[in-house]
Amino acid sequence: MCGIFGSALRDGNAAPVIHAALKRLEYRGYDSVGEATIDDGVLYVRKDRGKIDEVHRIHNLDDLPGSIGIGHTRWATHGAPLQVNAHPHLDCKGQIAVVHNGIIENFAELRQDLETHGHVLRSKTDTEVIAHLIEDGFNNRPSTSFADVVLEAVKKLEGSYSVAAISTKEPDKIVCARNESPLVIGVADGGFYCASDIPALLPLTNKTVTVENGELVVLSSENFEIKKILDSSTVVRKPRLSDWSPEMAVKGGYPHFMLKEIHEQPETLRNTLRLQEHYLDLMATFLERAREVFLVACGTSYHACLAASYMFSKLAFLGTYPVIASECVEQHGRSIGIDSTILAVSQSGETSDTLAAVMTARERAATILGLTNVVDSTLTRVSRVYIVQQSGPEIGVAATKTFTSQLSVLAQLALRVAKRRGKVSQDEMDYLGERLTKLPHDAEVVIQTQEEKVKQIAKKYRDAKAFLFLGRGISTATAYEGRLKLMEIAYVPAIALPAGESKHGPIGLVEPGFPVVIVCPRDETHKTVIGNIMEMKARGASVVAVVEEGDEEIKRLVDDYLEVPKGIAEVLSPILFVIPLQLLAYYMAVERGHDPDMPRNLAKSVTVK
Ligand code: F6R
Repeated sequence: MCGIFGSALRDGNAAPVIHAALKRLEYRGYDSVGEATIDDGVLYVRKDRGKIDEVHRIHNLDDLPGSIGIGHTRWATHGAPLQVNAHPHLDCKGQIAVVHNGIIENFAELRQDLETHGHVLRSKTDTEVIAHLIEDGFNNRPSTSFADVVLEAVKKLEGSYSVAAISTKEPDKIVCARNESPLVIGVADGGFYCASDIPALLPLTNKTVTVENGELVVLSSENFEIKKILDSSTVVRKPRLSDWSPEMAVKGGYPHFMLKEIHEQPETLRNTLRLQEHYLDLMATFLERAREVFLVACGTSYHACLAASYMFSKLAFLGTYPVIASECVEQHGRSIGIDSTILAVSQSGETSDTLAAVMTARERAATILGLTNVVDSTLTRVSRVYIVQQSGPEIGVAATKTFTSQLSVLAQLALRVAKRRGKVSQDEMDYLGERLTKLPHDAEVVIQTQEEKVKQIAKKYRDAKAFLFLGRGISTATAYEGRLKLMEIAYVPAIALPAGESKHGPIGLVEPGFPVVIVCPRDETHKTVIGNIMEMKARGASVVAVVEEGDEEIKRLVDDYLEVPKGIAEVLSPILFVIPLQLLAYYMAVERGHDPDMPRNLAKSVTVK
């Protein structure tokens, strides 16, 4: 996730306007920043790694001439946060500048093709190809308009993008386009703007036009024109008046970042399906050859590891040890050695317990693999191979979207190892591939259909003194995660267990009305889980079940239920089943009068001020 902004003004300098707008977009990314303007036929660029204020202190982002320009605040996806990788990216001659938010899936092929045609690309980003594709278009058809050249260029892109470009050939225009990544136009008396999100526009104007997927917009200081990328036909769309306050707008209209991030999951899951194949393949190679694999992490990331241990075992027949990072050295330190592989999972890539375990394993010559959300974090620097999960900044303290993204990446890895080991049939492979592809849509359905029901359930149980969460098999990880969310933001004491363990003591807690949340996918554990529900009901528990749509057998038995779409594959089930539990924790916190974004005693290592 990154923030883009463009400004075409009638009078005055665009640079300070862009700089101020990027500050308002900083919540979308903050590892590098850059601006480009055009004045008197010359393109000016300032960019560097670092937060906006740091870069401004060194380079003065207000001091570029010209009334037209674009800017970018970055959350790295391809290429480390270095000056060379910061946007805007330029063509060979330095006459075209491009900013981009999204992921270009076919950038490696495009880059190769451009290099064959003599283009020199300087960065490691996927974005730079766009500037060179535009240049190539001008080289091949010099009399074509800037808008048409950009239109032809974006037709070649596969993946997601919101992109804005300027060129010295037509220095009075910004051309922007959208596929999946957000883009809005701002209409004001003094000019026209484009931006990733409404908050960037609000102090300038509250008149906005949403750009839809597959559309391209040509902006100048006098007007804007929307075209369909497919056939260049013109689209007429009137501006709308936004009544969001700047604070609401930063949160996308949601009252809290946590809720915003829960709602972002269809998009963040989609991003995980666009990871570069060769990184997944490389990591799968290390995992496949490993004698023993330790999956090391803390908190929510540990729950992802726990689920992954079922995925690797069930799909690839690969035994792995999920390990809580703070226990890793005590529990396994001596047995870790040159034959061991550590897959460390950490959203931030900076969690000290995880890094401590990794460093000890490194000293013992183990192979370190990393899964993280932050490019250039310590974890990426110490890993032999790392994958960046592409979830965008996590500003809510409670991990939500990053958990489901971790699970999606881990499932893809397990599938790859399974394929190499010949452990899955073609039919199974196809089925799982298809279910993976459907996840973003299914996540959307869960959010749309269950949120209201979750609110009612949260109202009903708001005064509960404690909760029990149960799951079996891979759903144990889901139960643990549901419990962690509830405890950390709603401050309700909770226990989570593999359901089979409840009868070995914890069932003693259950008395009439005691709330028990049970995760019930329709997998091999279904029958046994029904037994667990009966056990709980026999003791008067109030059972809330998360079930697959149409699971009447369980629905009849329980007090309340939440549903996910039917047909989810067992190994992928935590990705959907956890969403109602994230919402439950969120609404329980709200019901109990707590701010879900500011859990007590917890802080994020990276925060946006
Ligand atoms: C829970 C939460 C924490 C983190 C844990 C690990 O909502 O956010 O439990 O999951 O501190 O953090 P990372 O993944 O950054 O290593």
